[in-house]
Amino acid sequence: MRQIIYRSVTTADSRRAADDIPAILGEAAPRNGVDGITGLLYTEQDHFLQAIEGPEESMRDLVDRLASDGRHRDMRILVDRAVDEREFGDWAMIHRDRRESVDSFDDRMRVLLAGVSRQVADYFRALAPA
Ligand SMILES: Cc1cc2nc3c(=O)[nH]c(=O)nc-3n(C[C@H](O)[C@H](O)[C@H](O)COP(=O)(O)O)c2cc1C
Repeated sequence: MRQIIYRSVTTADSRRAADDIPAILGEAAPRNGVDGITGLLYTEQDHFLQAIEGPEESMRDLVDRLASDGRHRDMRILVDRAVDEREFGDWAMIHRDRRESVDSFDDRMRVLLAGVSRQVADYFRALAPA
């Protein structure tokens, strides 16, 4: 199983990453279900932060599609590693925006951050303060 966490910047005229979320989730969730990919997608202002996990081949395909998706730019991979088990839950894809109230998503994320590097954990925490 491969795990990738990356961040990117929206190209939407509004500069709001969340504006593209309905369209992205509409295609991502059903497709991820078929491809065995799970993860979460975070937005804050003009930034996306996405964690994706799944079988090597599906992940390679998805990364290729993401890299050529004109809805975002400056894709920077923060984590790319092999994992024995999924660490970001079993959602086909779930979205969280900074403005929503603290919920189980944050609780789960906080626990999961214990397993990633200090640098990545700090990055996530900056987006989701306790
Ligand atoms: C920030 C962001 C996150 C995305 N996440 C996924 C995802 O998890 N799964 C997925 O299949 N497509 C995702 N997409 C959409 C893909 O880039 C691509 O448009 C989609 O898979 C359809 O590709 P196709 O038109 O080549 O078939 C995402 C796009 C963006 C901009």
